Amino acid sequence: MREKIARLRTIRRFKEDKKLSREFLTGLLDLARLSGSSRNCQPWQYQIVDTPELCAELFPNLAWAGYLPQWKGPGPGQRPSAYILCLLNSTWQKGPETEAYFDLGSATQNIIIGAMEEGVGVCRIGSFGTGAANLFKIPEHLSLRLVLALGEVDEKVVLETARDEEDIRYWHDEAGVHHVPKRALKDVIVDLERQ
Ligand SMILES: Cc1cc2nc3c(=O)[nH]c(=O)nc-3n(C[C@H](O)[C@H](O)[C@H](O)COP(=O)(O)O)c2cc1C
Repeated sequence: MREKIARLRTIRRFKEDKKLSREFLTGLLDLARLSGSSRNCQPWQYQIVDTPELCAELFPNLAWAGYLPQWKGPGPGQRPSAYILCLLNSTWQKGPETEAYFDLGSATQNIIIGAMEEGVGVCRIGSFGTGAANLFKIPEHLSLRLVLALGEVDEKVVLETARDEEDIRYWHDEAGVHHVPKRALKDVIVDLERQ
């Protein structure tokens, strides 16, 4: 299980010419739908974007890899071949937004698990411009909160252990391999004294 989870990395470079079928993308949303939900209110809905024209219009509205300012995001040929827009439905949402965001974390993790099983990578993109939502006529009760970029994996990503507390910035080496530092196990476990 650890090995499988370690492979569930954010992917930002894709085989753009490998199209993802509607059936495959719908299947991922079926996995999202089965995730846990606070108050079981299941307040998220999803829009599939999979035509080359719409993908090309959406792309410039997305911010990629904030820790790599010299890298301008995936270049032509390595851009996502599909997207899933995650929309919060305010009429279905019962509790505070923090609860809805917990649900979105679980739902999108299910999507990542299902996608990776088929060699498809996902990048969750919370940093997007208003132009993304403006591509669609979005009704009042829905609001765009997260974009998932998807495509067949075309990059190498390796995990490493963070050297110290500050070492959380991912980086690219000379070969273009993406390195992701994760805090050491000993550093995430606390040992609190009893009251
Ligand atoms: C809620 C959320 C929002 C994110 N937004 C972005 C984003 O706007 N752009 C981006 O390139 N990556 C984004 N990421 C990906 C993170 O940078 C990535 O999860 C982190 O670098 C750790 O890599 P890992 O997912 O492989 O563990 C986001 C991840 C999460 C969970």
